[in-house]
Amino acid sequence: MKNSSNILVIGGTGKTGRKVAQELQKRGQKVRIGGRNSNPAFDWSKPDTWAEALEGMDKVYIVFYPDLAVPGALQAITKLTEMAKEAGVQKAVLLSGKGEQEAERCEQVVAQSGMDYTLVRASWFSQNFSESFLMEPILAGYVALPMPDAKIPFVDTGDIAEVVVEALINDAHNGQTYELTGPRAITFRAAVREIEAATGKSIVYRAVSLEDYKASMEAAGLPDDYVWLIDYLFREVLSVPANQDVTRDVERVLGRPATDFTAYAQKTAASGIWGETVPQSV
Ligand SMILES: NC(=O)c1ccc[n+]([C@@H]2O[C@H](COP(=O)([O-])OP(=O)(O)OC[C@H]3O[C@@H](n4cnc5c(N)ncnc54)[C@H](OP(=O)(O)O)[C@@H]3O)[C@@H](O)[C@H]2O)c1
Repeated sequence: MKNSSNILVIGGTGKTGRKVAQELQKRGQKVRIGGRNSNPAFDWSKPDTWAEALEGMDKVYIVFYPDLAVPGALQAITKLTEMAKEAGVQKAVLLSGKGEQEAERCEQVVAQSGMDYTLVRASWFSQNFSESFLMEPILAGYVALPMPDAKIPFVDTGDIAEVVVEALINDAHNGQTYELTGPRAITFRAAVREIEAATGKSIVYRAVSLEDYKASMEAAGLPDDYVWLIDYLFREVLSVPANQDVTRDVERVLGRPATDFTAYAQKTAASGIWGETVPQSV
């Protein structure tokens, strides 16, 4: 395949897609962002936007939103891959969730699409604490979460993006499934302690039951499908012991160890996104 490809990065303004798009551009690839405000626009809820976004593309990074486990995801991935193949796209890299059975059905669709493919199954992102639903509790200094005993091998989105870029550019990754985790699994309490240490701020952690957590989301007026998904991600993904395993796939692909949660917390604190850091007394 030629050195420079036309690559559609769906979710190219999101947590992994943004970094994937930047790195691809640095490497001389021609990137088209697939998002609701892009030109042409790509919207998962409007299949009539997909053909124009796929036109002229050689490869595609598929980030489904909100999650491959939600009803309708399988149909959407089936239709998108059919359309991509028809449009002449030769390779697809799919972002999937480690430990989600529904996501594995979508992976199979990509694997059987007739295009070259790489499947990238990621553990919970570290960046959920700084770019997603765990940001607000961190800023509020009060984090109440269920599953206190679960150990989560949080993975850095920078590592995911680097693996995805390698997979998109290098045909040696065709047909591979990578399971990406950080280098160690930690509890929510430990993660909050790390962020406390990095910011110098006091953040209270409290363990709550999944039922109470769900009830608090409902009481806050969050939409039913959002509550369902967050509940699913805690219940299905974090309660399975195998999902707490640390893998070495980041190192296998990138030739360097995965980014540790401490490094993520320090870098994020230094960016100022969690507010001004408080100097530690020695
Ligand atoms: N977060 C995790 O811990 C985790 C772990 C494993 C796997 N994943 C997977 O990562 C994927 C992304 O999840 P995320 O929560 O981390 O989100 P994210 O990357 O922050 O995604 C948000 C992006 O989705 C785009 N988007 C939203 N609605 C869209 C729509 N209707 N059509 C097209 N694009 C839309 C937004 O782009 P515009 O606003 O520009 O449209 C935004 O760039 C999911 O498939 C999830 O299963 C997440």
